[in-house]
Amino acid sequence: MKDNDKLAQGYVASIPFDQRLYRQDIEGSIAHARMLAKQGIIADKDAESIIAGLNSIRNEIEQGKFHFKTKLEDIHMNIEARLFEKIGDVAGKLHTARSRNDQVALDMRLFLKEEIPKTIDNVKALQSSLVELAEANKDVIIPGYTHLQQAQPVLLAHHLLAYFEMFQRDKERFSDCLKRTDVLPSGSGALAGVAYPVDRQFMAQELGFSEISNNSVDAVSDRDFVVEYQAASALAMMHISRLAEEIVLWSSSEFGFIEISGDFTTGSSIMPQKKNPDVAELARGKTGRIYGNLMSLLTTMKGLPLAYNRDMQEDKQGLFDTLDTLHSTLEVFAEMINTLKINPQRISNAINADYILATDLADYLVKKGMPFRQAHNTVSKLGEYAVASRKSFRELSLSEYRDFSPLFDKDVYNITLESSIAARNIAGGTAANQVEVALEKARSLLRIEQNRSQVKKKGGK
Ligand code: ARG
Repeated sequence: MKDNDKLAQGYVASIPFDQRLYRQDIEGSIAHARMLAKQGIIADKDAESIIAGLNSIRNEIEQGKFHFKTKLEDIHMNIEARLFEKIGDVAGKLHTARSRNDQVALDMRLFLKEEIPKTIDNVKALQSSLVELAEANKDVIIPGYTHLQQAQPVLLAHHLLAYFEMFQRDKERFSDCLKRTDVLPSGSGALAGVAYPVDRQFMAQELGFSEISNNSVDAVSDRDFVVEYQAASALAMMHISRLAEEIVLWSSSEFGFIEISGDFTTGSSIMPQKKNPDVAELARGKTGRIYGNLMSLLTTMKGLPLAYNRDMQEDKQGLFDTLDTLHSTLEVFAEMINTLKINPQRISNAINADYILATDLADYLVKKGMPFRQAHNTVSKLGEYAVASRKSFRELSLSEYRDFSPLFDKDVYNITLESSIAARNIAGGTAANQVEVALEKARSLLRIEQNRSQVKKKGGK
């Protein structure tokens, strides 16, 4: 861009936000210089001075001594211009056999390749907190809800493990997205591939990529991996937001099922009794912005002709915002969950102890031979009668029961919250032994993944 329009310069510049990619940009350039020298495209000594220059630029940036210039548009040109200042004209050899189009694609991929494992670790930490909370309150029975109406009793641990499952799927989505991020675009040049005998496999090895891209036009046009990260993040935030909503609801004075530690709530400036669940509310609120980032990128990419278009520079701010928001939300949630206090007394007071057992009464009749639909109908009428006579199921006499069906017997009084839980003894059900199996499975999944990521950290780049 010519020097004379400051407004336009500022408008097209990405340096205010893409300076975050400085490390990846330098790492990519060093690998590129090495490859060029290995292939005899530039001289070894030129590569050496380029690499030394790039290393010292990295130090300058890390020590806060680097002056980023808007005039130089982006991180790629800022670093290259500084390289010229440091090593002179040799710097001009670095950009042989590449374009900013494949360079920016490389930087973005390197960046996400580093960040996705952190995302997965953060999800895992939240899962661990949930498992610990479940573990510590294994015997607590809560009213399970449908339509936010009390439906059937479930173990609190079972309810919490539902979130474990959601987050497990989130991790799978992130690892899956990592596979498609883990592809080297370098060598694609501006769009057609470069006219030099580059060694793309060598570059891939140097930078730790599992694959190289198949099509140069696609490689510089593709931001699917960013969309996928945004989409997986939007889903993960949706899960967090549902958890947040339950935390808000359950900590209200009407529910009182849980108490959030004062570190994660705020008081009101006017109402001294208030303990507002701001952390949970903000997570719920931030979810909207994360959805927006996904929509924004999808909309930016829609209708773009192949190959690179400058519109694509708009992929960065949303990605950084999503990533930072997701990471901080996961971190603060893991801590908040660790400090949650469960109030079993309030929970048990809240359970509409009889009506919540209506399904069990119907099942009781089914076991004595009545077809389920008829049993449902019978218990429904029994329920209406109980409500009208202001009695709980438990307070009805056997003869009152028998007015509705002769199949009722004394053992109808054995139906309790505990028997209801115990009856659901099928894989994936809420019976205590099933939940125990689920907890064990969750714990061992977390352990296995822990070991796997430790091995990767030791072995990998
Ligand atoms: N700053 C640009 C971006 O983020 C880098 C690629 C620019 N390429 C170009 N031909 N202008 O997308």
